[in-house]
Amino acid sequence: MAVDVDQVMANYRDTGNLKTRISIYDYREPRFDPVDFAVGMLPGDLDEKLVLDVGAGFGRYTKRLRADFPRATVVAIDKGPGMLAEVEAPVMVADARSIPYPDASADLVLAMHMLYHVPEPAEAVAEFRRVLKPGGTLLASTNIRGDMAQLAELWHRVADPVLGPGGYSWQDAIRGFDSANAPGLLEAAFDSVEVFEATGLVSVPEPGPVLRYFASIQSLLGRDDNAMAAILLAAEQELADHFAEHATFDFPKTVVFYRCR
Ligand SMILES: C[S@@+](CC[C@H](N)C(=O)[O-])C[C@H]1O[C@@H](n2cnc3c(N)ncnc32)[C@H](O)[C@@H]1O
Repeated sequence: MAVDVDQVMANYRDTGNLKTRISIYDYREPRFDPVDFAVGMLPGDLDEKLVLDVGAGFGRYTKRLRADFPRATVVAIDKGPGMLAEVEAPVMVADARSIPYPDASADLVLAMHMLYHVPEPAEAVAEFRRVLKPGGTLLASTNIRGDMAQLAELWHRVADPVLGPGGYSWQDAIRGFDSANAPGLLEAAFDSVEVFEATGLVSVPEPGPVLRYFASIQSLLGRDDNAMAAILLAAEQELADHFAEHATFDFPKTVVFYRCR
């Protein structure tokens, strides 16, 4: 499935959809903070260093690195200006394939859960290599292929009849950079690619977070409100049946992080 940049960026017009999706992981056990995880993978002290957080979103990594390393310069870069509205300067609206920094200027680049949105992720990876100093580090993250299987199965049961052939699959939508092909793309530009995985079980105790997760992908469907309304109605019925027999709706969640040098 080709990346439709307009649909993707419509989804990131503001921070609401991303925050909705992330909030479902509040029900994950063991508790997992990807920002803590990334900080644990840092190459060392970042004071006086230049860090570019590319596809920064609402800046959860940027904010943490600025707090931990007040003498570092951490620049939040995103293609969507609305995503950066809550992030203090320095921020920059730019595409990951064309970063307005000179060659060999950055010490650390972050590309957290964003490369699958880039139509040609290899071009962005090459751009990260270009702006990084020799010996600099790229931290990237994504999801494993087949992630959140039960949630995806529910989505297809309720959405495919509404959307028809082809439908919409968020697993297909991230295939450009998921766990199956990310290492190859990164190894093309970096000498060393270390892989770190973190798995948990998300146990949602009520239908609301699942319905809100589905609703948050509306702009990616390229369909009108009626299609999503029909999908949500079918999902409500399925979830009512599920919760009549189970206390929670469960699915595994695995993220994978890459440290590249
Ligand atoms: C799933 S969010 C991740 C946000 C943040 N890295 C995090 O993990 O919280 C993906 C972000 O990438 C941004 N994005 C998508 N395509 C981009 C591109 N080509 N260049 C820069 N940013 C992009 C989106 O606007 C969005 O803010």
